[in-house]
Amino acid sequence: MIKIRVPATSANLGPGFDCLGMALDIWNEITFEPADKMSHFVVGEGEEKLNKGIRNLLTKSFAKVHQVRGKKLSVVKISAQNKIFMSSGLGSSAAAIVAGLFAANEILSKSLSENDLLKLATDMEGHPDNVAPALFGGLIVSVMAKDEILWRRYETPDWTIVIVKPQVEWLTKTARAVLPKSISRTDAIFNIGRTSLVIDALRSGDLSLLQKVMDDRIHQPYRLKHISGGMAAYKVAKQFGAAALSGAGPSIISFVNSGDEETARNEIANVFEERGIETKSVITKPSSLGVHLI
Ligand code: HSE
Repeated sequence: MIKIRVPATSANLGPGFDCLGMALDIWNEITFEPADKMSHFVVGEGEEKLNKGIRNLLTKSFAKVHQVRGKKLSVVKISAQNKIFMSSGLGSSAAAIVAGLFAANEILSKSLSENDLLKLATDMEGHPDNVAPALFGGLIVSVMAKDEILWRRYETPDWTIVIVKPQVEWLTKTARAVLPKSISRTDAIFNIGRTSLVIDALRSGDLSLLQKVMDDRIHQPYRLKHISGGMAAYKVAKQFGAAALSGAGPSIISFVNSGDEETARNEIANVFEERGIETKSVITKPSSLGVHLI
């Protein structure tokens, strides 16, 4: 039997669309036990949705490693305790993909390298910004090159992070469909410089710089206007520190001074709740660990 933990991740971090992501201290814990038939049980986040059948991203990625290695599928009972909010912009699908790949690779004597796992995960997810920190932890910059993913990993200080998720219907498919096909040179320049400075601010723990540079013109303005209360909540979050749409949303991620987290959480949540939208929220910090055995 093996037991693993895989972290939530927040991608984009403002201007770093599709290439910047950070692992968070929020975990799904999953056991894989030898069994007579394949099964998959979930307790916690997403249990209603995930307990409907055994075909999901985790079982698909688990099978994928066997297929790539030319091995017969290891028949297992998979039991998960999930804390990562689903459809929230916290990398729940990346966590499922990474969990299945990592567990299968452990069971098959670690025959694939970390870069093989990253490539497989990116092929399944479409971009590396969530799967890379889910695999390796920390703050990761990653880009898709011809046949490989190029990436660098950085440690960050223990940021105080507030996540507020409005309970609205917001599909990743929609979140990508609302984006423009092309952007202006002015907007590209706006994002390039800020992405470089966001990386520096996150690594050095400089909240004042982060607050000034965690802005974006490639995805946030287009997405926030479709998320009820999104723009107003984002503006409130910015008053407490640095804020961004987490991944494709709808969660707002906010980096705040330690001590401000409860007030920030309440005020950001209030913006949605005043509009009749329920919220889920969590106070967390970065994780320097990615997926691992426990
Ligand atoms: N970079 C991705 C996006 C993350 O913003 O669409 C969510 O999959």
